Amino acid sequence: MKGIILSGGSATRLFPLSKSISKQIMPVYDKPMIYYPLSTLMLAGIREVLIISTPRDLPVFQDLLGTGAQLGMKFDYIVQDKPNGLAQAFVLGEQFIGTDPVCLILGDNIFYGQNFSQMLQRAQQTGDGACIFGYYVKDPRAYGVVAFDEQANVLSLEEKPEHPKSNYAIPGLYFYDRSVTKRAKELKPSARGEYEITDLNRTYLDEGKLKVELFGRGFAWLDTGNCDSLLEASNFVSTIQKRQGFYIACIEEIAWRNAWINQAQLYELGEKMEKTEYGQYILSLCVS
Ligand code: G1P
Repeated sequence: MKGIILSGGSATRLFPLSKSISKQIMPVYDKPMIYYPLSTLMLAGIREVLIISTPRDLPVFQDLLGTGAQLGMKFDYIVQDKPNGLAQAFVLGEQFIGTDPVCLILGDNIFYGQNFSQMLQRAQQTGDGACIFGYYVKDPRAYGVVAFDEQANVLSLEEKPEHPKSNYAIPGLYFYDRSVTKRAKELKPSARGEYEITDLNRTYLDEGKLKVELFGRGFAWLDTGNCDSLLEASNFVSTIQKRQGFYIACIEEIAWRNAWINQAQLYELGEKMEKTEYGQYILSLCVS
């Protein structure tokens, strides 16, 4: 399976400076925002990742992440000239995807919780069809929303509905079979002029090929869509890391635990950052 990170889609709602500063290259607490979605793909065991971003931000990501070889991975990069919608990722990424199934994650989505790796593995085994997720939120109006009947069958999928039919928002993490590019190419732009991921998901739903997994109450799905949620995400990461001592989204650690790099390579990566707490954390892993 291959992975795509789409970073820099819709215009940021962060602050007036958004013309000159992009939120996509900002940190969440102690590491670049993109480490969080990247770590999710790594936990799913995905080693080949395409990063799609704006002409302005893509070089920054390239500079930050390189070829991926340092993590035992392979990174490709493609520019999305205009924020034409999430589903466009599969058209832009056609060559990269080839005939493989693919997982898309949005660059500003953060996932954290127990048994996450197992859920990711289950999602990958979907086979013919798609697997998306649902997460109960107080106000789902800013998201895709999935509604169910009493037997937990999916009734509807709606993008940013004014009157949501349920409280289940659809997080920015999607697993698709190899038919996704063909489906994405057949989509028509929505009223807001975007190729909507929700329309893509509906093509699977209409054929009875859409699986929806729900994240439970103990699970954290955060995004960084506005100033408050960005601050909350940073505070969340800081709180967990300080309390437990384990880092969230330390990509070097995950590469090592996945046995994609050995301890000597991990040590070398830590040494390059030894003046930072992040680097010291990596070095501390090498002692054990
Ligand atoms: C996008 C999707 C939406 C999804 C959300 C998750 O919204 O269109 O369905 O629930 O990501 O973060 P956007 O970030 O473009 O507002």
